[in-house]
Amino acid sequence: MKRLSIYLGTICLLGTLCSCTNFSQGQEIGSVSMKSGTTELDSEIEGKVDSLLSLMTLEEKIGQMNQYSGFWDVTGPKPEGGSEAKKYEDLRKGLVGSMLNVTGAKEVLEVQKIAVEETRLGIPLLIGFDVVHGFKTVSPIPLAESASWDMEAIKRSAEVAAKEAAVSGINWTFAPMVDITRDARWGRVMEGAGEDPFLGSAIAKARVTGFQGDDLTSPYTIAACAKHFAAYGFAESGRDYNTVDVGTSTLYNIVFPPFLAAKEAGVRTFMNSFNEINGVPATGNAWLQREILKGKWDFNGFMVSDWGSINEMISHGQAENGKYAAERAIIAGSDMDMESYHYLNYLAELVKEGKVNEDLLDDAVRRILRVKFELGLFENPYQYSDPSVENEVVGSQEIQDAVLDMAKKSIVLLKNEKRLLPLKRSGQNIVVIGALASDKTSPLGNWRTGAENGTAVSLLEGLQQYQGNTITYVKGPAFVDGEISFPKQLQINETKTSGMIEAVNAAKKADIVLVALGEHGMQTGEGRSQVDIGLPKLQQQLLEEVYKANPNVVLVLHNGRPVAIPWAAEHIPSILEVWQLGTQSGHAIAQVLYGDYNPSGKLPMTFPKAVGQVPIYYNHKSTGRPNEPAPGEVFWSHYTDMDNDPLFPFGHGLSYTQFEYQDLKVEVDPSQVLVSFELKNIGGLDGKEVVQVYIQDVFASITRPVKELKGFELVSLKAGESKTLNFILTDKELGFYNNQGEFFVEPGDFKVFVGGSSNTVLESEFNLAQQLR
Ligand code: BGC
Repeated sequence: MKRLSIYLGTICLLGTLCSCTNFSQGQEIGSVSMKSGTTELDSEIEGKVDSLLSLMTLEEKIGQMNQYSGFWDVTGPKPEGGSEAKKYEDLRKGLVGSMLNVTGAKEVLEVQKIAVEETRLGIPLLIGFDVVHGFKTVSPIPLAESASWDMEAIKRSAEVAAKEAAVSGINWTFAPMVDITRDARWGRVMEGAGEDPFLGSAIAKARVTGFQGDDLTSPYTIAACAKHFAAYGFAESGRDYNTVDVGTSTLYNIVFPPFLAAKEAGVRTFMNSFNEINGVPATGNAWLQREILKGKWDFNGFMVSDWGSINEMISHGQAENGKYAAERAIIAGSDMDMESYHYLNYLAELVKEGKVNEDLLDDAVRRILRVKFELGLFENPYQYSDPSVENEVVGSQEIQDAVLDMAKKSIVLLKNEKRLLPLKRSGQNIVVIGALASDKTSPLGNWRTGAENGTAVSLLEGLQQYQGNTITYVKGPAFVDGEISFPKQLQINETKTSGMIEAVNAAKKADIVLVALGEHGMQTGEGRSQVDIGLPKLQQQLLEEVYKANPNVVLVLHNGRPVAIPWAAEHIPSILEVWQLGTQSGHAIAQVLYGDYNPSGKLPMTFPKAVGQVPIYYNHKSTGRPNEPAPGEVFWSHYTDMDNDPLFPFGHGLSYTQFEYQDLKVEVDPSQVLVSFELKNIGGLDGKEVVQVYIQDVFASITRPVKELKGFELVSLKAGESKTLNFILTDKELGFYNNQGEFFVEPGDFKVFVGGSSNTVLESEFNLAQQLR
């Protein structure tokens, strides 16, 4: 590039601390230390960043901190003043550092060319998009992928998503969402890894490394974004965008770990969250963004606001106008403004008035430019914008294979009492009931903004690949009314019962009835919280009628959140959890139904019996009154109308074979604790089991959960085979954070639990006489 030669310069000394105490109103949060991580920085890139920064006007710096949405697509409320003409004008003036929701090699080329060829400094754009579970070829929703507990498959899924997105012009994904969540009412549970910080951290790492690869300059990798920092998953009563009130210990021990894991895996960006923490919106929260993320964790990438979240500081009641919101947000460490326009409108004024120190802008711009250099955008700004490569790669066999593999591994066999599954290969009369069985859009789930509706393989199409049985399909009562497309609200049919009688009559003649019920793919996701998480009334009625007609029912359960289905769990002999599995959904489900893939998934989130139990999660605290003192006693921690147990616990999932756990041994030495046990495949089939190791720190200065996952492994065993498994627990697994955010191990009594779910089958204990070395 012609302008590149001027970027070469000396290494910038960024490690200086800058103190700012310029709060003119509201809560005084004291001095803010601004630290730019200096670890692992590439000196050549730092030199270029510094050199480029020295050439920039104040307006150009602010431009880098401004992100516009594309002209035809929005993923949040449209702010005032963002007309297409104005956006193009600003682009030409160098007042835009990044765009989101512009996709397609040709479309991206158009805006990138303006940035590179028509602006004074020719700084290329970051092109961001929510590549959350695939792009045009859709992989299972993240909650489903998490049920695989298979880090290689998850990484591979992110890798192919990155590849498909990259050739379509995108160089930055707003993923992974690493928010821990315990509330199935929250629509965005579909987007994360579930309730556990240990599993969530492993998945965060797999996804970040999948998206980013080893080389960010590759045309097939993109920058990742750990979101939403922080505690967005704790929205009160599961209502999206609601207030969060989370305790310090939960913040450090439950909420932060997957973010830290993402940072350690090298994630290049973070996104803040819509919620407040201790009364301070995350976007304006200096403690969170400067002290923890950029300070303690030494994060040297950048922080993008969530959609319009700088503006939302006004509604939160933290800032009385856009100008003050911009001041608070930049001081707090939000580097890029997504669709509020307040940085563009007010930052220059704030600097000139002396309310915001220009060093803060320099720090933000350095971080943004650093990522642009790391992506190789200056050397090759159009490398993501070649329509011929796009044509070749999008939807390719390699990508289809990876999403099919991921989809099979995401399925969880919840129940298989009469061993109706796997299906026999021939001679069976199989009746398939339910509108979801023929739906080619719902399996795409919610965040499939790059995919066309109707592009998923339906369950029915998947079953038709198997020739030996007679398949009859009866739709039953239509599941949904009207067109469903983002961002329209879903209409659930509760009135039109037509098709019910036909379904029941068909069921009577069947050997096996497959009933596809649950949620539509648009029932979960952003802004889609629900107070009722059971089956809609008409579906429940259909299931009960069909079961009365023929008890050989396999419920093929589609959902994006844990659902409360106590009647089904009690009566229906086989339940297969198939979530929303993406483009290859039907093939994956059929392969599992027929046993071509023996299910190995385990739940990443607890399924409740009733919505009233929510939030329900396995790693809860003991409380002061955990046990019923005597039968019939009232004064203990329980409900009077239901027990405390979940419907299906965290980690639960069956196989067509069975596994036996035995011979648990625990050895303590000065530097580690060795846990070993024997796993045997005692069923008649080859299969895979996710073995899980939990601990409890029995007495501690800060109460610890009754169980905490601290190890897992996906083990393949042939029928009859057994294996000894060894797990090493170090201080990393045995320790916890105190309320000052310091991590340490407390000597004392510990328990170890082992099994194929959080309802473990083996238990032992050990005493740690002193801290591990
Ligand atoms: C969501 C983010 C998303 C952004 C851009 C927001 O509403 O909370 O997760 O990345 O929109 O689409």
